[in-house]
Amino acid sequence: FNVPVPINEPVKGYAPNSPERTELLKTLKELKQQERDIPMHIGGQEVRTGNTQRISPPHDHQHTLGYFHDGAAEHVQQAIDAALAARPQWAELPWEQRAAIFLKAADLLAGPYRARINAATMLGQSKNCFQAEIDAACELIDFFRFNVHFMQELYRQQPQSQPGMWNRLEHRPLEGFVFALTPFNFTSIAANLPSSAAMMGNVVVWKPANTQIYSAQVLMELFKEAGVPDGVINLVYVDGPTAGEVIFNHPDFAGIHFTGSTGVFQNIWKTIGQNIHKYKSYPRIVGETGGKDFIVAHHTAHAKAVAVGISRGAFEYQGQKCSAASRVYLPSNLADEILGYVKEDLKSFKMGDVEDFSNFINAVIDERSFDKLAKYIDGAKADPNAEIVAGGNYDKSKGYFIEPTVIVTKDPKYVTMCEELFGPVVTVHVYDADKFEETLELVDTTSPYALTGAVFAQDRYAIDLASKKLVQAAGNFYINDKPTGAVVGQQPFGGARASGTNDKAGSILNLLRWVSPRAIKETF
Ligand code: NAD
Ligand code: ALA
Repeated sequence: FNVPVPINEPVKGYAPNSPERTELLKTLKELKQQERDIPMHIGGQEVRTGNTQRISPPHDHQHTLGYFHDGAAEHVQQAIDAALAARPQWAELPWEQRAAIFLKAADLLAGPYRARINAATMLGQSKNCFQAEIDAACELIDFFRFNVHFMQELYRQQPQSQPGMWNRLEHRPLEGFVFALTPFNFTSIAANLPSSAAMMGNVVVWKPANTQIYSAQVLMELFKEAGVPDGVINLVYVDGPTAGEVIFNHPDFAGIHFTGSTGVFQNIWKTIGQNIHKYKSYPRIVGETGGKDFIVAHHTAHAKAVAVGISRGAFEYQGQKCSAASRVYLPSNLADEILGYVKEDLKSFKMGDVEDFSNFINAVIDERSFDKLAKYIDGAKADPNAEIVAGGNYDKSKGYFIEPTVIVTKDPKYVTMCEELFGPVVTVHVYDADKFEETLELVDTTSPYALTGAVFAQDRYAIDLASKKLVQAAGNFYINDKPTGAVVGQQPFGGARASGTNDKAGSILNLLRWVSPRAIKETF
């Protein structure tokens, strides 16, 4: 058994009349015509509570895609019981057998599941087809294939032995179950969190965000068809605090793989701390959390490249990527030129539903997010410290649409320069072009986050200075490129400070968190 170094899944183009576009359009139509009844999955059984909640596309909230069955504390307990029952056999299965399951999942996703997972992501999370393709298809296929490759590397790294002895490291799964708590914004992340822990021999209780359940049910079908045994990954739909109450009080709680907002993660950490005496082992706490990602341009930057960095980096998927640029620092000599290009780009960004593939901007995820963003925009309209130079309109009559909005402020600590908005709003501060070094200091200290960031410069000294001054400001640092779009196997992803534990999803570092190695010495 030898898993070669994978190559990244090629991104399909969805050109007019291409076979992939025809199939995707057909699948979108089929899904829209059905009202799915969406059960939880516990121990291989579909569980229906009759207490259902409606799912609708964020861009068309009157349309019904289906209903999911909302669970309660007892279902979380059932999921834990099912996981623990599956654990002995799964943990004993040779890693090559586990690898085969996830390699098959990758192949199924690259083939027969591709249109369905993309269509479900487009409809359920309002992602355009190109953004769905790079997330739900390509990034997830890459997560499966690269993680299997990294798993092999991990198992093969063995300590030295001397004559007369044989030393070895056994990478045991954690003793208990892992809780995967996942966000709405990437289908690939939602799947990677339970699957990377499961791949390492763990059993998992998985709770997705309610706004991602529509694509989560397709992922569960994929896991089942790939051969993940019953009880290894259990999918429950329960509100977060209810799930937390059962999970974090359980003695077999062995780790959490979380992606979501910083506040939720910090509360979870506190709860785990308070309950620490209840657990058999110290639980692994892995969290990928919020961001306030930056772009800073030097006076030697290429104006057009910065503009593309802003318009793509801030507005792809309506700015709802954890990596999205949301605060920008432009030098006074280039600001007007760069903002001119950005405004031109924005004119070409059509906004609307996901079925028209020419729409670049779709809806934000839900009414709560819409209202929050509208409030920030209204605040900027009323504030003499801020000027809206593009966008600024919003409308929720049919879907939760917010125009891509650019705010310019003289105040580098203006509220939208500091807080995570998580939507299509970017704030720009123009600095005196001679004050690059002071501006780097501002970039570093303005926000508690450190997820992604980009510097644009042609001058090598400026690039070097920014790399050094911003050494802790971003877990993923880009030079002359936008801060979004990390590729598995190329730019391992994750941030520090308030952005997470920086365990780099899709890398050997992350897989290491899901094993508890035993060192064995045998003498002859
Ligand atoms: P969220 O924190 O609202 O939800 C994440 C998960 O936690 C969901 O499953 C949710 O139901 C659950 N949850 C919410 N409140 C809870 C509680 N009190 N107790 C237990 N569970 C609870 O995040 P979201 O809105 O789904 O996703 C957006 C956030 O995720 C943004 O802050 C973004 O920056 C972050 N994110 C970070 C990364 C990264 O790699 N750093 C990647 C994607 C998203
Ligand atoms: N891989 C995603 C990005 O970098 C999170 O945008």
